Amino acid sequence: MLESPIIIVNYKTYSQSIGKDALKLTKTIEKTSEKNWAVCPQPNDMRMLSENTNVPILSQHIDPIDPGSNTGDLLLETMKDSGAEGTLINHSEKRLKLSSIEKVVGRCKEKDMVTIICANNPLVAGSAAALGPDFVAYEPPELIGGDISVSTAKPELVEEAVKRVEKIDPDVGVLCGAGVKDSEDVKAAIELGTEGVLLASGVVKTEDKKEVIKDLESGL
Ligand code: G3P
Repeated sequence: MLESPIIIVNYKTYSQSIGKDALKLTKTIEKTSEKNWAVCPQPNDMRMLSENTNVPILSQHIDPIDPGSNTGDLLLETMKDSGAEGTLINHSEKRLKLSSIEKVVGRCKEKDMVTIICANNPLVAGSAAALGPDFVAYEPPELIGGDISVSTAKPELVEEAVKRVEKIDPDVGVLCGAGVKDSEDVKAAIELGTEGVLLASGVVKTEDKKEVIKDLESGL
């Protein structure tokens, strides 16, 4: 299980966080950080990262399929074998139908994989909690990749997401993400009742990664 409070870095498909650069960034996180971090690399980089670092690894996505006759899908068993401890599900950049989310959550539970369902608004966050994931991550799509953080731009919506999730299932943790760049954004997210943040560009696209890592986790 992932320990919280936590900072999760989604490497997406940024050229700065694939292949050797994915390993370099993950080693920098491992050496610099003193708190809980996890990373979501590209599938082909996962084994290299899990064999060479101790930073918890999550898949960016898993398809709602069983082993067998499928082509081009991401299979849970392969991700787990490659070192993933869990997965994001339904990221705004990789949305799934409700029945598919439910299937992936169910398969992950069977295989002891951590589940983080992404939700684009507080209502969806509450509905996602009903599927029994470990975490729901509220990320307003319009703020993803930008400079304005969800926790400072939309604090009332983060609070609403926390309340809706708590009402459905208090055991489900809430994360928030989109535009998170510094310790103030992380601190605000925690004060609003979340167990951490999910971010990408704020780490991946910065020059001085060590400084950013130290700054971000000082907000936890
Ligand atoms: O999965 C995290 C992500 O969607 C947020 O991206 O670049 O706004 O931190 P970013």
